[in-house]
Amino acid sequence: MKGVAIITGGTGTIGAAISELFQKRGATVVVADLDEQPVAKGQTFIRCDVTDPKSVASMFAEAAKLGDITSLVVAHGILLETVPGTADPVAVGKVLDVNLKGSALVCDQASAHLAEGASILLLSSMSAFMGRVVGGYAYQASKAGIESMTRSYAVAFGARGIRVNCIAPGYMAQPMKGEGSKLRARQGGSDKVREATPLRRLVTEQELAMSAAFLCSDQAPSITGVVLPVDSGQRAF
Ligand SMILES: NC(=O)c1ccc[n+]([C@@H]2O[C@H](COP(=O)([O-])OP(=O)(O)OC[C@H]3O[C@@H](n4cnc5c(N)ncnc54)[C@H](O)[C@@H]3O)[C@@H](O)[C@H]2O)c1
Repeated sequence: MKGVAIITGGTGTIGAAISELFQKRGATVVVADLDEQPVAKGQTFIRCDVTDPKSVASMFAEAAKLGDITSLVVAHGILLETVPGTADPVAVGKVLDVNLKGSALVCDQASAHLAEGASILLLSSMSAFMGRVVGGYAYQASKAGIESMTRSYAVAFGARGIRVNCIAPGYMAQPMKGEGSKLRARQGGSDKVREATPLRRLVTEQELAMSAAFLCSDQAPSITGVVLPVDSGQRAF
């Protein structure tokens, strides 16, 4: 992979795995995250709050100094409990701000910085279209919105050869930071959710990184506007 790859949420579980694989495949990796964690040697960390237009603008300006931006992986996200009927409106707003509006802000600003032929990859979730997942309606709505935006950006940026795709992970071996573990416990634990998938397996971040690398590579020149479930068959279920 040539050029600069920016990974928002790059110090998270999935973002870090994607950063590692993209770097191995030759990209100059920029890890953009609110959470300042040490990054691997050779990667550049830029503190960035995806809800703040100035912060996102300065992240792109810094990243552009390292070379042509050829990949943008939008892998940030938060999960807060929002139960239908009793949700805290502040939590609902925060989830939508970070996950949905933050992804839109990053993609909108990316437009001015991405090289021709670049790739954008967004992160949804298998839960986006599952009404039976209790306790996370704001998260699910934010992810359904991200899948919709994938198609809008794919159409809008297509004439410049910029491809925009999305991955929808299923139950991961490693739940998200914050309330991810709490939700997993309420679902009955990792063994229970694994047994609920057609393949009887939890998804690893390394598998997601391989799908991300494929979609952002020159092996997928005609693939744009798609949502790839990487979910052990859960969306088929
Ligand atoms: N882990 C799962 O079970 C799972 C399943 C389906 C989808 N996903 C999605 O995949 C993506 C990555 O998930 P993960 O498991 O790596 O989660 P994670 O919690 O490990 O990482 C998310 C990262 O986003 C960052 N972030 C949060 N708010 C931010 C902000 N305002 N600005 C910049 N960065 C911010 C966090 O600091 C964190 O490092 C998310 O979009 C998540 O919704 C995860």
